[in-house]
Amino acid sequence: MIPVPALTPFEARIEHAELVEKIARWDVAYHGKDAPEVTDDVYDGARRRLNEIEARFPELAARSPLKDKVGAAPSEGFGTLVHAVPMLSLGNAFTSEDVARFDAQIRNFLAFGEDAPLAYVAEPKIDGLSINLRYENGTFVSAATRGDGAEGEDVTRNLETFPESQLPRRLGPDAPLVIEIRGEVYMTKTDFLALNRRQEAVGDKVFANPRNAAAGSLRQLDPKVTASRPLSLFAYAMGEASTSPANSHWDYLERLKSWGFMVNPLTRRCDGIAQLLAAYEELGEARASLPYDIDGIVYKVDDLDLQKRLGFRERTPRWAIAHKFPAEQATTVLEAIDIQVGRTGALTPVARLTPVNVGGVVVSNATLHNEDEIARKDVRVGDTVIVQRAGDVIPQIVGVVADKPRGPTPFVYPETCPVCGSHAVRPEGEVIRRCTGGLTCEAQAKERLKHFVSRGAFDIEGLGEKNIEFLWEKGWVRAPADIFRLEARNAEEKLQKLENFEGWGKRSTEKLFESIRTRSRMGLERFIFALGIRQIGEATAKRLARHYGSLESWRAAMTEEAKDELISIEDIGPSVAGDLLDFFKEEHNVAAVDDLVAAMRNLGGDVEDAKVIEASASPIVGKAVVFTGTLLTMTRPEAKARAEALGAKVVGSVSKKTDYVVVGADAGSKAADAAKLGVATLTEDEWLALIGG
Ligand code: IVH
Repeated sequence: MIPVPALTPFEARIEHAELVEKIARWDVAYHGKDAPEVTDDVYDGARRRLNEIEARFPELAARSPLKDKVGAAPSEGFGTLVHAVPMLSLGNAFTSEDVARFDAQIRNFLAFGEDAPLAYVAEPKIDGLSINLRYENGTFVSAATRGDGAEGEDVTRNLETFPESQLPRRLGPDAPLVIEIRGEVYMTKTDFLALNRRQEAVGDKVFANPRNAAAGSLRQLDPKVTASRPLSLFAYAMGEASTSPANSHWDYLERLKSWGFMVNPLTRRCDGIAQLLAAYEELGEARASLPYDIDGIVYKVDDLDLQKRLGFRERTPRWAIAHKFPAEQATTVLEAIDIQVGRTGALTPVARLTPVNVGGVVVSNATLHNEDEIARKDVRVGDTVIVQRAGDVIPQIVGVVADKPRGPTPFVYPETCPVCGSHAVRPEGEVIRRCTGGLTCEAQAKERLKHFVSRGAFDIEGLGEKNIEFLWEKGWVRAPADIFRLEARNAEEKLQKLENFEGWGKRSTEKLFESIRTRSRMGLERFIFALGIRQIGEATAKRLARHYGSLESWRAAMTEEAKDELISIEDIGPSVAGDLLDFFKEEHNVAAVDDLVAAMRNLGGDVEDAKVIEASASPIVGKAVVFTGTLLTMTRPEAKARAEALGAKVVGSVSKKTDYVVVGADAGSKAADAAKLGVATLTEDEWLALIGG
């Protein structure tokens, strides 16, 4: 055996995985079945070796599923794996116009003419869950679910139960040193029905649809359960790769097949929109008779270099889109209309329905959008209505079935908040009526807290909506800062400690405190997003964070005087700027933010400056750049995307704060503005030289 200090990281990782697997198996045998597989000496020796490896390679300890486990039965949760390349989602197209727009945007970005050849690959969109499979030196090393896109659950041991025909353990000699293969784990319709029959027979839970069954089967803490479930895998994408195994997506798929992966046989290579739409029609007709569920078709630009140039928006690639099949519909009775109050005070009508099966999912709530929609469709309680669901979106009420008995009275939309009783007002020209209670409205305050802890925001594990409700009722968490005082508050408490309540328990309470402590250090962009200011979504929060850099400079700039600078930021207009300034005009908001920062610092955390790309990596980090005129080597959208990817801020107009004005052909007044203000101007060639071509 190689002494631990002599192990390379790669060897350590392999041995670590083997040890974890072995120990977990022995644990199950010992604790779960009272049937030890090995002697205590062998067991202790393996544990010692594991500890030694983890001491030297702490990153392995962090992902060890045995972490914190003292020889207990199956672990309480999965370890996590950080994705080397984020796992993003896809934008949606619903109509052929959407598809045409997708193609046009790509051509526009790349300066391809309308008729220039542009090859796509069209693939069925499998309704399962995505998986990242990592191979090093041609050998399978780990598997992770998508999770939040940045990190997923380590399900390596579960994937190891897949047969070689679904998951090759070794790739061919032509595989890159490191390659991540991505695909979809799914369950066939027949396997799903058979599984549910088995589950029902033994009184176990039945699954709503094949997708849930696949997810439930893969995310099992005991790999033996996964092994007993009929899962399948289609490979269709690439994560990290040390070298590119192909020039086109199509050739990559061929390569995957040669390595032993299943690639969907209905994949087509297409040239132009007409062929994409033909593939959509073909697949739509085949859909019902396929052995597995699909919810659309994915179009991907075939050329991998072009994919790279096109890159990503916030969460979705520019080079691919999902064209969804029409929504599934059903009819049912509208039992009630409830009015919910959101975090910004918006009143939204929710339909409560007699539960109905819509395309495999039982639906009992649906959105009615807003008061005008209800009036326009004359939707009444007691009506028979058409419900529709498409993909992951909230089910909607499409309309009333006219020839069924109608509800007796038209719905009267409330003009006061159903939660706090404040006036609910609807400004001229807007569709949404809002409660004016602000944070004195319990609903708004609670919704803001839920937003604060949600995924894109502070993402506090163990603090979901239910627990927020509970802590609110208890009076312990009424504002974000209270979350960071929770542990201290609980320590002071004598009788009503959290761990004494049902569903909390000592371990989960401790875990919650731990994740709160971890989150007391938070990046500026998430921090801004978490405040839940109207119109400030993730993308805008990120722009603000990148622009201002630190909490202090951002706060200092939230004044009327600095409004011009605010509006100069790309995608921030007067309306968004107005909402931001309004937020900081309210003293209670300012106090809540101060209190929050103080509570975070009290736990040893802080708001971290926005992450900028290393200065050494790019000379334009943090620089404000204006493009003007026509560029020859790339289109304006591509130039903007590249500049932003390198850490620059692309702004629309020239001011004293602009660092560079890149002047293309036929430039107008902006070049003159630059000269007047003494801002540096660059030709296109100089710009390319600056950013490295
Ligand atoms: S490509 C950068 N191809 O759809 C995006 N995704 O909405 C890479 N999916 O998370 C994804 N079939 O779970 C791709 N042929 C296919 C797919 C597919 C199903 C799922 C996948 C992804 C989701 C995005």
